[in-house]
Amino acid sequence: MTRVLYPGSFDPIHCGHLEMIETIAGLFEEVVVAAMENPQKGEGLFGMSEREKMIEESCAHLPNVTVAMFSGLVVDLVRDLGADLIVKGLRAVSDFENELQMAQMNSALSGVQTLFVPSASRRSFLASKLIREVARLGGDVSSMVPEPVNRRMNRIEASGL
Ligand code: PNS
Repeated sequence: MTRVLYPGSFDPIHCGHLEMIETIAGLFEEVVVAAMENPQKGEGLFGMSEREKMIEESCAHLPNVTVAMFSGLVVDLVRDLGADLIVKGLRAVSDFENELQMAQMNSALSGVQTLFVPSASRRSFLASKLIREVARLGGDVSSMVPEPVNRRMNRIEASGL
């Protein structure tokens, strides 16, 4: 049985992530999606447990996907889960340099390999950072995020935060 880890900061999960998770779930027997802190990013819009909940609700239709939340090194989570591989999505060449560096660091730390899967081109412009920005400025992101995320974003907008 091949168990893979799909880690990310998911602040929030968007339709590009979800499409990638659906693709990976079709390729491997078990997928663990992990909401993790990215020390290179700021505090974020959603707390970690809210991010985890949104992923869980968005992936409820995928029986071989489970969700975790972890603060620490991704290689430690790989070890704890007994995962075989890390899987990351690539939207564009601009993603590659940073992803390659992380993959090489993770491999150097623990020998775990990272598999890159290209995102579908019609979704490759999606980024959580842009979705947060557009939503904050009153734009409509409802087609870009799963419904459980949209609900929460509308709530935040209504509360004026
Ligand atoms: O969605 P992101 O922000 O591109 O995901 C990046 C993430 C969370 C996978 C990365 O920051 C990470 O692995 N964080 C955990 C801490 C860690 O292991 N850092 C060393 C990575 S080489």
